[in-house]
Amino acid sequence: MRRKLVAGNWKMHGSLATNAGLLQGVRDGVAGLAAEVAVCVPYPYLAQARAALDGSNVAWGAQDVSEHAQGAYTGEVSGAMLADFGCRYAIVGHSERRSYYGDTDAVVAAKFEAAQKAGIVPILCVGETLAEREANVTAEVVTRQLDAVLSRCGIAALARSVVAYEPVWAIGTGRTASPEQAQEVHAAIRARVARDDAGVAAALRILYGGSMKPANAAELMAQADIDGGLIGGAALVAADFVAICAAAA
Ligand code: PGA
Repeated sequence: MRRKLVAGNWKMHGSLATNAGLLQGVRDGVAGLAAEVAVCVPYPYLAQARAALDGSNVAWGAQDVSEHAQGAYTGEVSGAMLADFGCRYAIVGHSERRSYYGDTDAVVAAKFEAAQKAGIVPILCVGETLAEREANVTAEVVTRQLDAVLSRCGIAALARSVVAYEPVWAIGTGRTASPEQAQEVHAAIRARVARDDAGVAAALRILYGGSMKPANAAELMAQADIDGGLIGGAALVAADFVAICAAAA
């Protein structure tokens, strides 16, 4: 039985003042819930998240990580730095990174590896654009994104990660994949992993992301291969995020 994971992706939102209430609200709201909960905050707020969440059942993490261990890479943040701040997770390959910042499949695989080398669990995002869905190449796209990581890092590495299926057309749009649409892709991802190792596939947590909210969370997470959510907009409102976590638990 896979334990559900609900991870918030705050993206570039928040301030010291607004985060304080949000972190406290999440910490208090999910205390005692059976689901695992995490928040991925902007880098400058990692220390604040650690201070607010330490000793609670909410983990924290980052939204990206450098593919390099250290060196002359102005503006980058390494896995070791994230580990220094107690991060459990780092998102890699979010579609916003892929489309706005040029993160290719190869770069995403390198980031995945760099996170794990630092002891951080990567949350690997995969997902198709609307044009790709309409062209009927969804399975090919997510398989290609997954294969880049599998060929660089291997199946044993995937066992120490989380995958998030995020259809690009559903992110921040209010347009959610139907539970059946999401389940179909989640099952395809698990089947691809099972080709390499059935045990890893059975244990792998595959989150859904893309306009998940309290109103649709339970139905999505009731699908056989949906093991939680990666939550953007709804993670910025403590009551909404807590309600999604409760639906997972
Ligand atoms: P959303 O974002 O919940 O606002 O659609 C999800 C994500 O991008 O991780």
